[in-house]
Amino acid sequence: MTGNITVVDHPLIQHKLTLMRDQSTSTASFRLLLKEISLLLGYEVLRDLPLDTTDIQTPVGPMEAPILAGKKLVLVSILRAGNGLLDGMLELVPSARVGHVGLYRDPETLIAVEYYMKLPQQIGNRPTVLVDPMLATANSAIAAAQRVKEHGAMDIRFMCLLAAPEGVKAFSEAHPDIPIFTASVDSHLNDHGYIVPGLGDAGDRMYGTK
Ligand code: PRP
Ligand code: URA
Repeated sequence: MTGNITVVDHPLIQHKLTLMRDQSTSTASFRLLLKEISLLLGYEVLRDLPLDTTDIQTPVGPMEAPILAGKKLVLVSILRAGNGLLDGMLELVPSARVGHVGLYRDPETLIAVEYYMKLPQQIGNRPTVLVDPMLATANSAIAAAQRVKEHGAMDIRFMCLLAAPEGVKAFSEAHPDIPIFTASVDSHLNDHGYIVPGLGDAGDRMYGTK
């Protein structure tokens, strides 16, 4: 596999992902599982956050203790389905700034169409995590990453649940500076641009819109 990619294959993630893929899983369970997996994936995505130290007093004595250094993190959700990962990430880092990029895939051309964007100010010197469960053709993620860069972000990671090899290749070629974190790289894309075996349409399964 080419590209700067980390596949987080922890057994808990793989187990929950199997439940999500199963077509008989309910909308409510699907949403809950996505949030649970985002907590576990987030642990890896944020592993290299820089630390500082602070002087504290424990009940037993003084300590120079580690705390997160630098500016607050930025989380950018690619709507709609990105919000499923965003919810979990916000539990890990409640003080993060949050941005949204609204994109939908044209079903015929598979081109990403933008309908909304709102990003935090002064994003440049903040670590930024772009989240979307699905990296299929990568058209959506490539476009969103481009918009985030145009807004000034310089330290970006992309976090997804499932990726297709075609999407990993396309994203890595378009944004070689952005590492990808995923729970699985599946087999391939089908003729409609869906990940095989995948889990179907993430947004529809999250919100029960089909
Ligand atoms: C899905 C998914 C990604 C995109 C991935 O969104 O959440 O954003 O498709 O496909 P790509 O890599 O080929 O661009 P969708 O367009 O279905 O919109 P939704 O989240 O509003 O359902
Ligand atoms: N978007 C989805 O939600 N699922 C896929 O398999 C591909 C794109």
